[in-house]
Amino acid sequence: MSDAALEIRGLHVRFVSPGGAIEAVRGVDLDVRRGEVLGIIGESGSGKTVTGLAVLRLLPEHARVEAQAIRLLGEELTHRSDDEMRALRGLRMGMIFQNPVGAYNPAKRVAWHLRRIIERRDAARRDAAAAEPWRGRAKALLGAVGIPQPDRVLALYPHQLSGGMLQRILIAMVVALEPDLVVADEPTTNLDNIVERQILQLFQQLRRRLSAAFVFITHDMGVAHAVCDRIAVMYAGQVVEVAPAGALFAAPRHPYTEALLAATRARAGERLREIPGELPSAVAPPPGCLFEPRCVHAAPGCRAARPPIVALAGDPGGERSVRCVRHGA
Ligand SMILES: Nc1ncnc2c1ncn2[C@@H]1O[C@H](COP(=O)(O)OP(=O)(O)OP(=O)(O)O)[C@@H](O)[C@H]1O
Ligand SMILES: [Mg+2]
Repeated sequence: MSDAALEIRGLHVRFVSPGGAIEAVRGVDLDVRRGEVLGIIGESGSGKTVTGLAVLRLLPEHARVEAQAIRLLGEELTHRSDDEMRALRGLRMGMIFQNPVGAYNPAKRVAWHLRRIIERRDAARRDAAAAEPWRGRAKALLGAVGIPQPDRVLALYPHQLSGGMLQRILIAMVVALEPDLVVADEPTTNLDNIVERQILQLFQQLRRRLSAAFVFITHDMGVAHAVCDRIAVMYAGQVVEVAPAGALFAAPRHPYTEALLAATRARAGERLREIPGELPSAVAPPPGCLFEPRCVHAAPGCRAARPPIVALAGDPGGERSVRCVRHGA
């Protein structure tokens, strides 16, 4: 039995269209413990967002999702109906996306959004009767995310607020929700540097206040290093390496992780620079290692079969795994 709060086993996602099926996620296994931030990094199109959305059951209809298991605190989610998943999302899963506007009802004021979450949370709790009225708590939550004049902000509509402010208020809503799982997907990508730093500080605060499992998806290696405890590197729909953040940055083991870090270090703090070559075709990928066509260490054996992800040989902590024939146990 795993001690993970979130367990993902054998997750596959295909998108079916008249032109054929593309395989966006190819057998992802991940564990996230309570209180832990698991980062997911990898270049554009590697399947990071699709993995997060599959766990939340937020993919569009034409997505075909298969998984052996997706468990939250030991509870199997794959058998849940869409209605049950909607209820679970509203109560146990917090989401922070790149564009916070989508999290708001444009016709409703900030007060309505916070009140709804506070009341929903109270209804799910036994000690609800003892709770303070929602307005005072909403103001305290806004204060905690650094919003001055909370009374004024409560009366505003989403379109009257900047992206940074909306992201702050969204973080306040996640605090109010007290979920078991938080998925943050590029939460700072659209923001300028100063606001980005503030939002990252708030995320750190969020993580101290909640005992949730956190999944943090990002392009930015600096952000990943600062925020995440462990990191999963995705390439072409597969996890190719998992390691504690410090170990991953100090000594990457998968050739893709090495290339990714080398590309980033060339221009620290910016979005990823391209690694020569392209992601393999999602329709008809090569039979062997998916990174082999771009790998500086490629050998003929790499083309024979897809390498499995295995514990890293000689890793004293037993915390690292890698999908490469050069490094297996
Ligand atoms: N709704 C969709 N319909 C069809 N294909 C999709 C859909 N969403 C994603 N894909 C495809 O799935 C693959 C993985 O996409 P995903 O959005 O997960 O990448 P990502 O790693 O999050 O990239 P980025 O860093 O650009 O956000 C891509 O090939 C993408 O084109
Ligand atoms: Mg994405």
